[in-house]
Amino acid sequence: MDLDNLKPIVALCKRRGFIYPGSEIYGGFANTYSYGPYGAELKKNIKDLWWKNFVRQREDMVGIDGPILLHPLTWKASGHIESFNDALVDCKACKSRFRIDHLLEEGLKKNVEGLSLQELTDLLNNSKINCPRCGKKDFTEARHFNLMFQTQMSKTSEKGSDVAYLRPETAQAIFLDFKNIVDTMRVKIPFGIAQIGKAFRNEITPGNFIFRVIEFEQMEIEYFIQEAAWQTSFESWLQDMHKWCHLIGLNPNKLKEKEHPQEKLSHYSKRTVDIMYEFPFGLNELYGIAYRTDFDLNQHNKYADIKQEYIDRTTNQKYIPHVIEPTFGVDRTILALLCDAYDVETLENNETRTVLHFASNIAPVKAAIFPLMNKEDLSSKAREIFRMLNTHFNCEYDDGGAIGRRYRRQDELGTPYCLTIDYQTLEDNTVTIRDRDSMKQERIPISNLLSCLKEKLNCD
Ligand code: GAP
Repeated sequence: MDLDNLKPIVALCKRRGFIYPGSEIYGGFANTYSYGPYGAELKKNIKDLWWKNFVRQREDMVGIDGPILLHPLTWKASGHIESFNDALVDCKACKSRFRIDHLLEEGLKKNVEGLSLQELTDLLNNSKINCPRCGKKDFTEARHFNLMFQTQMSKTSEKGSDVAYLRPETAQAIFLDFKNIVDTMRVKIPFGIAQIGKAFRNEITPGNFIFRVIEFEQMEIEYFIQEAAWQTSFESWLQDMHKWCHLIGLNPNKLKEKEHPQEKLSHYSKRTVDIMYEFPFGLNELYGIAYRTDFDLNQHNKYADIKQEYIDRTTNQKYIPHVIEPTFGVDRTILALLCDAYDVETLENNETRTVLHFASNIAPVKAAIFPLMNKEDLSSKAREIFRMLNTHFNCEYDDGGAIGRRYRRQDELGTPYCLTIDYQTLEDNTVTIRDRDSMKQERIPISNLLSCLKEKLNCD
C-alpha cells in the first residue's frame, strides 16, 4: 500500500478548498469530511452529469429523491438487520478495532469467507498475526457488528419500537416506491429508477481519505426486467458504466473488472461485478453492478401491507420483475478523479507546477478571468466578460497577484481555461485564452469568446 502517494492530494484538497476534515475546530470527527467550495462544485458537476446521462437522456429511466429514514421493517425485509454485519475483533492492548476477515486475509493470504465466528477467532489466535497498530497479540473473541446507524424516533411505532435506521444504501427507497412509479408514470418493463443521495455505514475500518467513510453519497439505478433478460441487461449496463468512466475522463488503464466468486456474493445477489480503480493504496472497488433477482420486491411483499407487482398491459401477465443494479459511489468517483488528474510537472525553466487535469465537463471552474493589472479600466472590462460568461458556466474572477501565480492557482483547481484582459483588449476587443494542459495562449475576439469556449468545453 502506498498511502504516501495520497498525502499530496489530501493536502491539496485542504489547501485549495476541495475537501476539509470534518468538525476540525473540535479536533476532527473521525472519517467525516466536508466538501469546500471547489469540492462541492466538483461533486455537483458529477451528480448533474450522471443524472443527465442516465435519467434525462434515456427514455427508459425515471428519477426519484426518496427519504433517508425508511420504515424500520424495510431493513428486516431487505436482510440488512440480519446480514449487514462485519465480524470484528478488538486489540485489548491498544483498543484498536479491526475486521477480522481483513486481518486474516491480509496476514494469511487466503479467503476466510463463510467461517463461523469461533473458527475466525481460532484462526487468528493460532496465526502469527499481531495487532497492526501496536504489534501485540491480545485480541478479543470475534463478534458480529451491524453496520447500520441506529437513531431514536420521538414517537414510538404501533409495535412499540422507537428505533429507526439511517439508510445504508439508497436502493431500498427505490424498491419502496416501485408501485408508485408503475401507477403514476406509464413505465413499461424494461425500465429503471435512479436516485442520488446519502447513505450511512458504521464502518469498522474506514479510511484512505474519502474512500471508505461513514457518510457518503451513492448514485444508484434499479433496472426492472423480465427474468429471461437478465444476462443481456447485465452486460449492457456494465458497458454503460464503462462509458460513464470514459465520459468523466477516468484513465481506462487504471480500471479493471472483478467478478465476485459465488461464496462472496451479498445475500441478495446472483452475480456481482465490481469496477475496480488503481488507487494509490491499491486496486479497490470504485463501482459495482449486481443482479438482485426479484429478491427485494418479493421480500417487501412479505412484510408490507401494500403488495407490489407489475402487470403487462398488453398481455395482462402479472409478475414480480427482476432487477439489475448498477451502483456508483460519488465520493469514490471524486477520489478516483483527483488521483487521475493530479500531476506535478517540471517546466522548461525547471520550476514545478501542480495541476489537476480534470475533464472540462466535471472541472469545478471552467474559466478564470484575469485583468492583467488591478486598474479600473481593465477590471471593469474583465468584470463585464466575467458577467457575460458566468451565466453559462462557472467562472472565477481573480485580480490578486502576478499573472503567473494566478495561472498556478487555477492549474491547482483544474480550471481548463484562463482569460487575460490587457491593454490590447481595450483597443481591439480581443483577449488571450490560455489552455491549462498545453499552457499555450492565443488571442481571440470577445465577440467569439462564448462560442469558442462552449466548443472547447464541449457544452451547450
Ligand atoms: N445498493 C448496493 C450497494 O450499496 P455497495 O457495493 O455496498 O452496494 C455501492 O455500495 C457503492 O457505494 C460502492 O461501489 C462504493 O462506490 C460506494 N460505497 C460503499 N461503501 C462506501 C463507504 N463506506 N464510503 C464511501 N463509498 C462507499
